[in-house]
Amino acid sequence: MVSSDRFRAKKGLEGVVFDTTEVSHVVAEEKSLYYRGYPVHDLAQQCGFEEVACLLLYGELPSTSELEDFTKRERAARSLDAKLLEVLERFPLGGHPMDALRTAVSYLGMEPEFTGADDSKSALEKGLLLTAKIPTLIAANQRLRRGKEVIAPRSDLSLAANFFHMCLGKVPDAEVVKAFDGSLTLYAEHGFNASTFTARVIVSTLSDLCGAVSGAIAALKGSLHGGANEAVMEVLEEIGSPDRAQAWLEEALATKKKIMGFGHRIYRNGDSRVPTMTQYRDLLAKRDGGQNWVQISQVLEQGMAAQKGIYPNLDFPAGPAYHLMGFETDLFTPIFVMARVVGWTAHVSEQLASNRLVRPLAEYQGPEPRTVVSLAERT
Ligand code: COA
Repeated sequence: MVSSDRFRAKKGLEGVVFDTTEVSHVVAEEKSLYYRGYPVHDLAQQCGFEEVACLLLYGELPSTSELEDFTKRERAARSLDAKLLEVLERFPLGGHPMDALRTAVSYLGMEPEFTGADDSKSALEKGLLLTAKIPTLIAANQRLRRGKEVIAPRSDLSLAANFFHMCLGKVPDAEVVKAFDGSLTLYAEHGFNASTFTARVIVSTLSDLCGAVSGAIAALKGSLHGGANEAVMEVLEEIGSPDRAQAWLEEALATKKKIMGFGHRIYRNGDSRVPTMTQYRDLLAKRDGGQNWVQISQVLEQGMAAQKGIYPNLDFPAGPAYHLMGFETDLFTPIFVMARVVGWTAHVSEQLASNRLVRPLAEYQGPEPRTVVSLAERT
């Protein structure tokens, strides 16, 4: 059956403008990204992640007292209920941390402070609580999987510094914490990407924030989206040394492999966030003897640009940067969640402020209408 023009499919919704937003603006031609009008690289350099969270959630950079209030509430909400910790202890040890996080956020949706459908305002309240609790969930799950004691959050540390404390039991120097904090800003928001779109679709049915974030985590996990930062590190480790990188790339391209951390649906000439993240990666590599990863990366970057005209996305420098900070590879995409939960929340709140159920059409390509015949006649 041939559908009329009204029912022509747009695969992957490519080029489709789904709604308006005031949260961020991706200007692909200029390779730039703005959060509520501010260039993201300036925010990463000049503001802490908590300030950027306030900007994305409430629309403006905070004053000193507004930031103090946000920080106080975020730090007070970091702990997990003892029953939730017991649930985390029962998770299968071999499960991926993204699956654990998705399940734990889903659990949180049943706790009293999270239950109930959301409106634009309650989504922001709950989003602040999720921003506080998600780092604790990630760190607790990782330590339990490794047979280690869970480390309680500290309320005298920034969100970034506290994450190092809860995962590794120590906080590195200010330069490393700043690189991590800046990476969270770069990851915090990016328009109608697949996971944000998922969150908006879920809440457009008047579901709730925890459901939207659980669904968004599932969408982010895939290697075509957030899972790429883990896949990048796996590739760098597989290559192992710079002298093997060119041959690896040629073989991969000859066999039509997708090279993780390269390409983007929106940016065709390079990702706005890459220069800042590359600076962090290179700084960490210089400090901590990680030049190997930089050199392999550079061979891949040059080869991909020359042979395919395809450039790295944020996940490419983020993978080795997180490795050099001391995080295990399967934490990289959960770290992306720590940051992006702010963007998801801002979008959920915006969706609810002027909601319209998301319900697209399908281009039908199945059989023409036909008559049901009875089971006896079919055999
Ligand atoms: N490695 C090799 N070739 C790539 C590539 C990559 N990472 N990304 C795109 N290409 C090629 C495609 O094979 C295709 O070539 P063809 O026209 O010869 O078939 C062409 O570039 C267009 O790619 P396409 O897959 O249509 O682009 P897209 O908009 O659907 O995909 C991504 C965007 C992100 C899904 C894709 O670039 C990709 O898979 N990248 C790797 C995963 C990744 O890093 N994801 C994180 C994104 S932030």
